[in-house]
Amino acid sequence: MKALVLAGGRGTRLRPLTHTSAKQLVPVANKPVLYYGLEAIRQAGITSVGIVIGDTGHEIRDAVGDGSRFGLDVTYIPQEAPLGLAHCVLIAREFLADEPFVMYLGDNFLVDGITDLVDAFRLADHDAQILLTRVAEPQFYGVAEIGPGGEILGLEEKPEHPRSDLAIVGVYIFSPAIHGAVRAITPSARGELEITDAVTWLVANGFRVHSHLVSGYWKDTGRLQDMLECNRIVLERVEPANRGTVDDLSEITGRVVVEPGAVVENSILRGPIVIGADTKILSSYVGPFTSIGSGCLVCGAEIEYSIVLDGSSVQGVSRVAHSLIGRNVEVSRAAGVSNTHELMVGDHSRIQVRA
Ligand code: TTP
Repeated sequence: MKALVLAGGRGTRLRPLTHTSAKQLVPVANKPVLYYGLEAIRQAGITSVGIVIGDTGHEIRDAVGDGSRFGLDVTYIPQEAPLGLAHCVLIAREFLADEPFVMYLGDNFLVDGITDLVDAFRLADHDAQILLTRVAEPQFYGVAEIGPGGEILGLEEKPEHPRSDLAIVGVYIFSPAIHGAVRAITPSARGELEITDAVTWLVANGFRVHSHLVSGYWKDTGRLQDMLECNRIVLERVEPANRGTVDDLSEITGRVVVEPGAVVENSILRGPIVIGADTKILSSYVGPFTSIGSGCLVCGAEIEYSIVLDGSSVQGVSRVAHSLIGRNVEVSRAAGVSNTHELMVGDHSRIQVRA
């Protein structure tokens, strides 16, 4: 069995970060979300992986390389534009050959991996297996209708009146039957070759399409609140470790990881938190569910429930929360003028300040 990991796309929902970098590389507990997926694939016993890349392909290549670090053999498959998930299967035809494969959306996060799903597929004789999870608001997802034996009867994209509460998770397993399906369908109203249309084609043409329920936690990390929530879940499980320097004036409670070269002085750290390598936390409060990248500076500031990427600084500001701060960003107090916010912010940014 092979794996096809989708790491192209537009990432419009995570702008402005995705103007300059790949959304699959946004870190969760200081590790790119894509790495969790690659590790889960390896854990399921798969080593041959094709990664579909788009405009941010160079960044994905730099991060993943030939895959040997993950025990994988990686082939890159450039996609000229984000023309849909089924388009990714179409362009990967040669790489996939006639083997079954896992299709894994590179921005999806599954705490318990995919081994159960892969094992179930290996035992069964299905043409496709779709991972599903129960959600509270199915109208915002691709929704599956299933029969008594778990067979898929139909799929609907963001239906007004959902026929079930079973949402499609971004992991699928296909037999080579999918290649006929992706060639048979035409682009949707939004101009993309939709994987839901390809699966619907399989069902309509008598192929065996089965469901598999996710046992653990799943998130599509495409939006800010999902990223933060994912970060929270992973941080709750980190093993505390102090590999940096924490002075006697600082107070640490809960699960806190301080990476090598990091310095914590006169600060309060309330876990779960990770502090990246060579980061300085000075006279500050870092609250629960926060990941600070490497080479950052937090000085005279308070921050919680946030993700800060490498090389950024937060100085002299009270409580930053529910925030995702990109690379090499400076957040500081406006000197002199009271009641003034001074901003230099990229396109499609979102800023919420106290009035
Ligand atoms: P999506 O999140 O559905 O699409 P997107 O990346 O364009 O994001 P947004 O909706 O915020 O604009 O994509 C799921 C995953 O599949 C993601 O990792 C990107 C990848 N993808 C491709 O590689 N090629 C494609 O043509 C599409 C549509 C997505």
